[in-house]
Amino acid sequence: MIKIAILGFGAVGQGVAEILADRERIERWIGRYEVVAVADSKGSIYSEDGISLKNAIEAKKMGNLPEGKSTMEIIEEMDFDVAIEATPTNIDTGEPGLTHIKACLNKGSHVITSNKGPLVVAYRELAEIAERKKVRLAFEATIGGAMPLIKLAKRDLAGNEITSIKGILNGTCNYILSRMEQERLSYNQILGEAKELRIAEANVSYDVEGIDSAAKLVILANAVMGMNATFSDVEIVGITSITPEAFEIAMEKGYTIRLIAEASREGLRVSPRLVPLHHPLAVRGTFNAVLIQTDLAKEVFVIGRGAGKIETASAIISDLIDIYGDRTY
Ligand SMILES: NC(=O)c1ccc[n+]([C@@H]2O[C@H](COP(=O)([O-])OP(=O)(O)OC[C@H]3O[C@@H](n4cnc5c(N)ncnc54)[C@H](OP(=O)(O)O)[C@@H]3O)[C@@H](O)[C@H]2O)c1
Repeated sequence: MIKIAILGFGAVGQGVAEILADRERIERWIGRYEVVAVADSKGSIYSEDGISLKNAIEAKKMGNLPEGKSTMEIIEEMDFDVAIEATPTNIDTGEPGLTHIKACLNKGSHVITSNKGPLVVAYRELAEIAERKKVRLAFEATIGGAMPLIKLAKRDLAGNEITSIKGILNGTCNYILSRMEQERLSYNQILGEAKELRIAEANVSYDVEGIDSAAKLVILANAVMGMNATFSDVEIVGITSITPEAFEIAMEKGYTIRLIAEASREGLRVSPRLVPLHHPLAVRGTFNAVLIQTDLAKEVFVIGRGAGKIETASAIISDLIDIYGDRTY
């Protein structure tokens, strides 16, 4: 039986719990499993025999989880095979996820995470610990939410040299830019509406200044292209100074503007770029889209939802099945 601990019980952690509560769906892939602990910043619910996911979700709806073991106590004292780490991203320190992930890998459990911070700060170190301990570190959910990208590039395109990866890695920016394209409204007007619709977070600067895209690009460069990149290697320009007039001029010539993140041997860059109106990367709305350029398969294009509770949880579940599932599919 597989024992799972969910560390971080916000949107993504609860999304994972909702999917795992559907045993009929998941057990046919991975066999029997139990979630032995869920933890938020203040408390936890745990039992070596497995907890009720429905009760945990209900308890969280009422506020914080009951005071119990802290996340570190769960990691140090409990027996589990795989940790799902879904605490908030901090790309400066990687914490608290970095400490959680190191401790889990060091005790010999697999880790699946949606948290970019630890990977931006310490990808190589974490990958080395995982290799030494013979466990998996899986992070499909860190980039492009539900959009298959990491496993696609690393496994399905095995044998290829990936020469560049470029695309749209932030749905909020794409939503703003595609509405500017269609309605010629100002950046600030659309941003205000996006906040009201909760498409953009109150603190949107990570998105619109290109920082979120750059963090994802660093993970891609290191994990998929074998680079040894850090955040400071990325040239970053955000979307805050794009005007409706810029769209006017671009569109007269058959182009639109998108925030493009690109990793190639020439370097790493995130910046607004002209994209031909009928190019696959000219997607609209909150979609993410990526063009992978390889030597053998040539171009591979993928598009999908870059965020959302269940969408992101779907990527975590796909990692879980990748670790434990029958690989004959
Ligand atoms: N939401 C998305 O669509 C999406 C998409 C891709 C990636 N991600 C990434 O996935 C992660 C989770 O996102 P989210 O949307 O679920 O965030 P969220 O709703 O803010 O949830 C974060 C959870 O982590 C908990 N937490 C904070 N510090 C903790 C600690 N030391 N120990 C245990 N739990 C701790 C929080 O506790 P409290 O509940 O007590 O505050 C909360 O339950 C983030 O790194 C995010 O960047 C999210």
